[in-house]
Amino acid sequence: MERYKISSEVCIYQDHELTAEDRELVELAKKATEQSYSPYSCFRVGAALRLRNGIIVTGSNQENASYPLGMCAERTAIFHAQHQYPDQPIESIAIAAFANGHFYPEPISPCGACRQVMLEVEDRYGEPVRVLLHGTGGTHIVETVKALMPFQFIGDSLKK
Ligand code: THU
Repeated sequence: MERYKISSEVCIYQDHELTAEDRELVELAKKATEQSYSPYSCFRVGAALRLRNGIIVTGSNQENASYPLGMCAERTAIFHAQHQYPDQPIESIAIAAFANGHFYPEPISPCGACRQVMLEVEDRYGEPVRVLLHGTGGTHIVETVKALMPFQFIGDSLKK
């Protein structure tokens, strides 16, 4: 039997410790929660991503009476960005959640489906995507989606 460990590094930043660029992205993710259409869960999620060319694209969760048809904030933003700017790598994505009248003290982590989609972005452009998870107690930052998703399934996996 062999055993190995997989570990990920997460850094928690207070607002004043964030770079101006990261602070802006977090603020835009928070702002994007206002555009959420979430009458069923009442859980407003916002995402803001920065492209290599500096353009910021935002998204929010969009729900449907047929529940599974709804779309998460992260994928709303990512697919829009990749449609509009297919040659631009995504450098960073910030995520914030608002419910019961407040932003959450602890950040929410992207769902598995969104992690898989973010992983594809890293694979597609061959560059890491930084993930900024906002909580009122601090913004948790990982430098690559791989830190949130060990044992990745990517395009290469289909060729082996
Ligand atoms: N949601 C997101 O938008 N992003 C996530 O990472 C987790 C969940 C949305 C989906 C649904 O509209 C609501 O939050 C409750 O699950």
